[in-house]
Amino acid sequence: MSIKVRRLSYALGASVTGVDLTRPLDDATMAEVHKAWLEHLVLVFPGQDLTPEQQIAFGKRFGPLDDHKAVPFYRHPEYPEIYLITNHKIGGKSSETKDTGRLWHSDHSFTTRPTMATMLYCREIPPVGGNTMFANTYMAYDTLSDTLKGVLEKLEAVHSIAYYTAGHLQDRNPEQIAQMRKASPPVAQPVVRVHPETGRKALYVSEMMTSHFVGMTPEESRGLLQFLFGHSVRPEFTYRHAWNVNDLLMWDNRCVLHMAPADYTHEHPRHMHRLTVLGTPCGRAYEEAG
Ligand code: SIN
Repeated sequence: MSIKVRRLSYALGASVTGVDLTRPLDDATMAEVHKAWLEHLVLVFPGQDLTPEQQIAFGKRFGPLDDHKAVPFYRHPEYPEIYLITNHKIGGKSSETKDTGRLWHSDHSFTTRPTMATMLYCREIPPVGGNTMFANTYMAYDTLSDTLKGVLEKLEAVHSIAYYTAGHLQDRNPEQIAQMRKASPPVAQPVVRVHPETGRKALYVSEMMTSHFVGMTPEESRGLLQFLFGHSVRPEFTYRHAWNVNDLLMWDNRCVLHMAPADYTHEHPRHMHRLTVLGTPCGRAYEEAG
């Protein structure tokens, strides 16, 4: 089978047609998909009518899947690999994943085994909005001056779920928040991450998870971090996806930031099945000096 790949924006993103993900792809087709993914960073597979088993089977072709043990609250009741991002009620209560990802981030950068690939599958979408945005962090790195690149290459930054939960999740169940923090203490990540497959360098900080540089105070870090957060997501480095039901998207968290803007109201359903492929180890456990 020969796939058709069509670029969706200047910076990143391509649609892939000519594949049927309800059936196992042969190795040659998988190799084409993998090559397109490394080149375009975000792939959109439109019009795929998938069961959870079929989404899981496709995900497993890229590597072992996360079973979301650290955050078990919103897993699909029958498939622990599928995490529900939804504004439907869950267990009779308002969903706490309905506003997931409102700030730019890279999945699980707050762990020492950050997510390699995320696959998000659209089941329901409002008539307008409910978009997801992506930014190419290779481009963000490549467009810095050589002097700043030299400075950043020596730095690590602290990524922490506690930083995020302190700033943004006050309305969530406090016991769940405590469990998330315990399961994921802060980590130090390289500010410039070398992609293990392409060898290219990418900026690896995000407004959602990065609190400060290792060895500096938050105050000392703030100015440079704010610059990097803004620079990483300059409009010319981004792609904004307007979803259709049955779109399956996959992106490479090693060189992509993403966010879900609040560009809709919850009067219409938005329901996604998210699956994450574990990455290789990156970063180290971090303990504040002194
Ligand atoms: C996320 O994984 O951050 C949410 C993405 C989305 O719901 O569009």
